[in-house]
Amino acid sequence: MDIKELDKTYVANTYGRADVVFVRGSGAEVYDDRGRRYIDLGAGIAVNAFGLADPVWVEAVTAQLSKLQHMSNLYYTAPCAKLAEVLCRRTGMRKVFFGNSGAEANECAIKTARKWAFDKYGDESRSTIITLKNSFHGRTITTLAATGQDVFHTKFGPFTPGFVHASAQDASEVRAFAQKGNCCAVMLELVQGEGGVVPLTREYVDEVVDIAREHDMLIIVDEVQTGNGRTGSLYAYQQFGFMPDLVSTAKGLGGGLPLGACLMGERVEHTLSAGDHGSTFGGNPVSCAGALSIIGRIDDALLADVRRKGEFIRRSLEGAEGVVSVTGMGLMVGIECEKPAGEVVAAAIARGVVPLTAHGKVRLVPPLTITDEQLAEAIEILKEVIKA
Ligand SMILES: Cc1ncc(COP(=O)(O)O)c(C=O)c1O
Repeated sequence: MDIKELDKTYVANTYGRADVVFVRGSGAEVYDDRGRRYIDLGAGIAVNAFGLADPVWVEAVTAQLSKLQHMSNLYYTAPCAKLAEVLCRRTGMRKVFFGNSGAEANECAIKTARKWAFDKYGDESRSTIITLKNSFHGRTITTLAATGQDVFHTKFGPFTPGFVHASAQDASEVRAFAQKGNCCAVMLELVQGEGGVVPLTREYVDEVVDIAREHDMLIIVDEVQTGNGRTGSLYAYQQFGFMPDLVSTAKGLGGGLPLGACLMGERVEHTLSAGDHGSTFGGNPVSCAGALSIIGRIDDALLADVRRKGEFIRRSLEGAEGVVSVTGMGLMVGIECEKPAGEVVAAAIARGVVPLTAHGKVRLVPPLTITDEQLAEAIEILKEVIKA
């Protein structure tokens, strides 16, 4: 059996895979099993921040791999401690819990918010979390409950109780839920990624922040997709002028190895104690060593470059034939096309360019380090397949 047949026979049917087997890559270029080159505009869904086989990341990971590939969280290890310090220094947050994925980072944020309210109010009367319609927070039963898209709320019930979904445009729905007095937190994706790369407006976010402070609720930002330089700042909230209480992140953090983190601010830094939460693989030394090499290079120059390249994509596509709208921030772009997004993506892959879809749109989340030449070549091809 060839690889595709083997996969179809033995791998669970949870993914609709494109008709291509990728075998290796370098930066924003990826090669299939026939040696054909593609320009990667998906980065493994916003994961490979510095592209494929980035030599600095490979060196950091392999150096750690030959020393200590895993150790229990019962003991101290250097990469985990150093990464937590860097993340806190770069964000103003106080503590970090490490897991392996975005869903796990959100689980930690949810548990922390509920425990914070329990400790403060003495019971579970404020356990509800407000999330937004059209949001996406993960695939576990709890993060599906948090996700504000009805399509995810069938077939797998019962879901974890304690989530309500408010409008992402009109903050009065958040206010109405907050006024009930049973909410401990509001959870926001500042750019709704899986929901079609839709940024929240500054006015909306300002109002939600005010409501949360008025009603003694925590603010959780889900930066699983927007984080780690993707939107043109280390974390997207840094462009929205407020300090969250909890930040969940994953994807680009590990540069391609599984790593998630829940960053805790001043109000919740002492909420979790020994035994309250844990993860066997969380804070894995190899993943953390790789992440240190990624976060350390997301500096002002790189972030300015991310914003500039994002602008280039928007300028190139806005008003182009077959393009209805272009949304996003930095190198996280959603393109509404006249043609179905799936058709555009299939045609692009056939021409050697690999974009993604998100909620009926074409989504671009290329490696942050994609070159100007690669980007120009890929966008030209994309424009041709969008209009054809
Ligand atoms: C905003 C957001 N939150 C959470 C998740 C879940 O992350 P993971 O698949 O790593 O569990 C995703 C994944 O797409 C995401 O985009």
